[in-house]
Amino acid sequence: MQRSAPPQQELLEIAVDVARDAAATAHRMRAEGVSVAATKSTVTDVVTAADRAVERQVVDALRRVRPDDAVLGEEYGAGDGTPAAGAARVRWIVDPIDGTVNYLYGLPYCAVSLAAEVDGAVVAGVVRNVATGEEWTATAGGGAYRGGRRLRCSGETDLGQALVATGFGYDAGRRAHQARVLAELIPHVRDIRRQGAAALDLCLVAEGRLDAYYEKGLAAWDQAAGALVATEAGLRVGGLGGRAAGPDLVIAAPPALFGPLHDRLAALDASGGP
Ligand code: IPD
Repeated sequence: MQRSAPPQQELLEIAVDVARDAAATAHRMRAEGVSVAATKSTVTDVVTAADRAVERQVVDALRRVRPDDAVLGEEYGAGDGTPAAGAARVRWIVDPIDGTVNYLYGLPYCAVSLAAEVDGAVVAGVVRNVATGEEWTATAGGGAYRGGRRLRCSGETDLGQALVATGFGYDAGRRAHQARVLAELIPHVRDIRRQGAAALDLCLVAEGRLDAYYEKGLAAWDQAAGALVATEAGLRVGGLGGRAAGPDLVIAAPPALFGPLHDRLAALDASGGP
């Protein structure tokens, strides 16, 4: 029989403990020097030894405290001896290092992202910047926080004044399409930021340090924790045409900006292309 799910605050406390240790490992390994261990979808989609070591550490730590839970990770998928997702009410979703290219280059914009789902809905999440130690947390219905401060998204209502972040996939054809969308969007917004870690982009949008964010091609581990932080800070997070945010498109915008940004992106076929 499946175990009952614990309160989301308890899941958050586990997530925070595990993510802090994971970020410490990533930080230490960065200081010791880092190189490419392998490539994935394309030659620019890199994996470092730290991505793998950190994910293993997270899976092992979760297995010690929550042995019956499922885990989905960027580097090792759903395997690694954890229960199948269908057999567990709780599933953890981990991106050991979001912003791997920044990590490789020593740019201080990369994070450990860890979320807990119960029955398919994300209920707790933490994103911790490996370089700076900044940490964002959220629970479903319980708000989003950084350093004890409750977060509220930007109150911007004019898309023309909005600072909009986005990102690009690793496939050259996809990037070409994303660049065409961007070229058509940029005249209609204040400016664009491409910082290289989707989880952190979503957290900065949650704080109003960016007004809005969109991206095609995100995997669950890129956005699970960050999207909860954004939602809990008052952003509307969704896809095109009333669909949920997903690989086709993630849009995170304050309620007044969501419609105008959505309509621009739909007209530009932002979820299209390879
Ligand atoms: C990537 C980053 C990047 C986004 C890419 C992601 P990774 O994740 O979040 O900002 O634009 O779509 O794949 O590969 O660094 O974990």
